[in-house]
Amino acid sequence: MDENLPVRQAQSEMEKIVALSKRRGFIYPGSEIYGGLTGTWDYGPLGTELKNNIKKEWWRSIVQNRDDVVGIDAAIMMNPIVWEKSGHVSAFSDPLIECKICHQRFRADKKEEILSHEKTHKEKTQWTEPRKFNLLVKTYLGTIEEDKQELFLRGEITQGAFVNFENVVSSTRVKIPFGIGQIGKAFRNEITPGNFTYRSREFEQMELEFFVRPEDTDANKWFEYWKRERLDWYKSLGMNPDKLRFRKHEDTERAHYAKSAEDIEYEAPFGWSEFEGIHNRGDYDLKAHGLGYTDEDGGKFVPWVIETSGGVDRSALFFLLDAYKEDGKRVWLSLHPRLAPFKVAVFPLLGNKKELIDKARKIYDELKPHFMTAWDDRGNIGKRYLSQDEAGTPWCVTVDFQSLDDGTVTVRNRDNAEQERVKIDELEPYFKSKLAE
Ligand code: GAP
Repeated sequence: MDENLPVRQAQSEMEKIVALSKRRGFIYPGSEIYGGLTGTWDYGPLGTELKNNIKKEWWRSIVQNRDDVVGIDAAIMMNPIVWEKSGHVSAFSDPLIECKICHQRFRADKKEEILSHEKTHKEKTQWTEPRKFNLLVKTYLGTIEEDKQELFLRGEITQGAFVNFENVVSSTRVKIPFGIGQIGKAFRNEITPGNFTYRSREFEQMELEFFVRPEDTDANKWFEYWKRERLDWYKSLGMNPDKLRFRKHEDTERAHYAKSAEDIEYEAPFGWSEFEGIHNRGDYDLKAHGLGYTDEDGGKFVPWVIETSGGVDRSALFFLLDAYKEDGKRVWLSLHPRLAPFKVAVFPLLGNKKELIDKARKIYDELKPHFMTAWDDRGNIGKRYLSQDEAGTPWCVTVDFQSLDDGTVTVRNRDNAEQERVKIDELEPYFKSKLAE
């Protein structure tokens, strides 16, 4: 029995996704032509579509479809007092240790990474004592060197919702219980970025801060409600339920603001890994900023917050890993159609027959305003299907000689490679109804 087999299989699964991401334009290493910048990634044309689709679906389910949540978009740069009050300046840190042989730095709480590093040295590794390493990324603002103001890029997008709490209450009709939803970039000086985009220094979060009455019963009810909602959302977009689970945080690992916390984890090739946190933040943040709420009867209180904090990049990575399929003949991404970068690809059966090209081009032009639509007339039809399969395009429309006679085309399904004939006039409602499923 080869005991290293599972490790090698996991590595190879990751290598396949990393290679496909680069080859097809999902994700590239950041600043690659200058040797890269550790912990940063650039999304290519397909990756940008995938990420936008994840964000669109999140916004639809959390903000658009609900009466009790409003959306905001707060600034990345905030007055530094925000981060002092929020506790991030004093408490947003990871325990850092350094290998005394090679001076590489690690997180003391990541036991597997430490063990794996120890195997790289022949002699026994000596470690420095753990010390707290603050994760906030510093930057400077201002035009005069001596007067430059030091500030932080936001370490979580969350604080933008809290500092605008009173603005939202006074400018909208929300009443407790209600939520503020937001999507945006966050920055962390991670000690060990790694596992592709999983742990980056610049990443995107999609978060809901849901304000409830300051009582355990209310908070616990909403905590359970939001746990269910968020897990169901990932399942509804096709993520394999067997690879999803909750993990409750131990008392020792909870963030400084959390009364209780549970992570949604995915079984990645590198092990069960968090990609969304559900937190009961109690009244920690609003109290820290000196904010409160007055209800219709004049009662004053500081609301509690149930937070759902998901990573757009981690979701994108796990949707990709989950969708990756191969059967020896082809590789395909079985992404949910609403997440797929392109919904439809249109081809003329032959790339050198004007009648077929003209007809296909007309269909392409008609579909393009409604769906992300790809065009391909290179090589043979089989190669074009394979290329779209790898990009995760759920449907390929082919215009053949029969199309010229009876006004129908073939629509090929990415997942089972089956084809059906559909009338050209009915293509738009056909795809719209498929996307609504
Ligand atoms: N507002 C709460 C908060 O920020 P968190 O557990 O620190 O909580 C929430 O982060 C989510 O943000 C994580 O579940 C993950 O998806 C994403 N995230 C955090 N750090 C990340 C990193 N270094 N790289 C990529 N995503 C990250």
